[in-house]
Amino acid sequence: MKTLSIIRPDDWHLHLRDGPGLASYVAATARQFARAIVMPNLVPPVTATERARAYRERILAALPDDMAFEPLMTLYLTDQTSPEEIRQARASGIVKGVKYYPAGATTHSDSGVTRVEKTYNALAAMEESGLPLLVHGEVVNDEVDIFDRERIFIDQILEPLTVRFPALKVVLEHVTTKDAVGFVKAASDRMAATITVHHLMLNRNAMFKGGMNPHHYCLPVLKREIHRQALLEVAVSGHPRFFLGTDSAPHPRHAKESACGCAGIFSAPAAIELYAEVFDEAGALDKLEGFASRHGPAFYGLPVNDDHITLVKRPWTMPATIPCGTEEVVPLRAGGEVLWSLAHGSHG
Ligand code: DOR
Ligand code: ZN
Repeated sequence: MKTLSIIRPDDWHLHLRDGPGLASYVAATARQFARAIVMPNLVPPVTATERARAYRERILAALPDDMAFEPLMTLYLTDQTSPEEIRQARASGIVKGVKYYPAGATTHSDSGVTRVEKTYNALAAMEESGLPLLVHGEVVNDEVDIFDRERIFIDQILEPLTVRFPALKVVLEHVTTKDAVGFVKAASDRMAATITVHHLMLNRNAMFKGGMNPHHYCLPVLKREIHRQALLEVAVSGHPRFFLGTDSAPHPRHAKESACGCAGIFSAPAAIELYAEVFDEAGALDKLEGFASRHGPAFYGLPVNDDHITLVKRPWTMPATIPCGTEEVVPLRAGGEVLWSLAHGSHG
């Protein structure tokens, strides 16, 4: 049977939410990942270090006793975020990045940035202190076609930002287009990108196959096949500035299967297994460890993990739904076969 042992991976983009589902979401991630960059789009958002500290404690309290996991916290950038707040975040040691949501771009982004100019003082403090900016790269202008929002954000906002703040470390999160891949490749070594497993596996047809499928709706939205190909190519190329970030984002089933279904895909129940499937299909299993376990820590200036996981090419069936607190959530690959398994004993 085909097996693969790699340094334990980390997830550089994750939504854990808060409240009754938290314990299930943390466990789903901690069974495979040692650490995760935890997104701050709670209600209310995590806009200050003290909130990040309290959220971190809730996450650790929800972690099952037999699991190890380190949440890497983020702050939610607003028009009001002060340079002093940034300095406090940096000094805390627990905050590893600051998340830029354009206001209205996605789930719980209403408190996000209305005009990039309003964040210049905060960005200058981040540039000075070395705290990375984690970017949801989509414009929100209603006149812009939803499939073009990432490309236009890069042209209008991100590229000028890198000129104004050349030493600022930036992660362009969940890249979805060949344009984003090209931009990050051409940028300096202060610019990196995360790639989700769903954007590697699926193109936009998946949202409409056999009827409308809200469980494949996420933001940035799935794109054309040529874009998926570009993501796959760079992910398996071994490029050190592209790394794993699931953007696993659980929503209760009723909130997805609704007249106004929300964006987000719950991939944590099979994340590393599905990345293994993608890399295996591309004949590039030897590149999985770099992408999942080495490139992220190198960019964030953290050590790689000191233990390993073993993946086995042994199929199993993903349940149709997963109970999470008081809700049920439909995971990625629901009811379908996942070709790779995490070997027993490699749980965190
Ligand atoms: O699909 C998404 N879901 N994209 C995001 O940017 C946010 C996330 C969420 O919080 O559910
Ligand atoms: Zn996200």
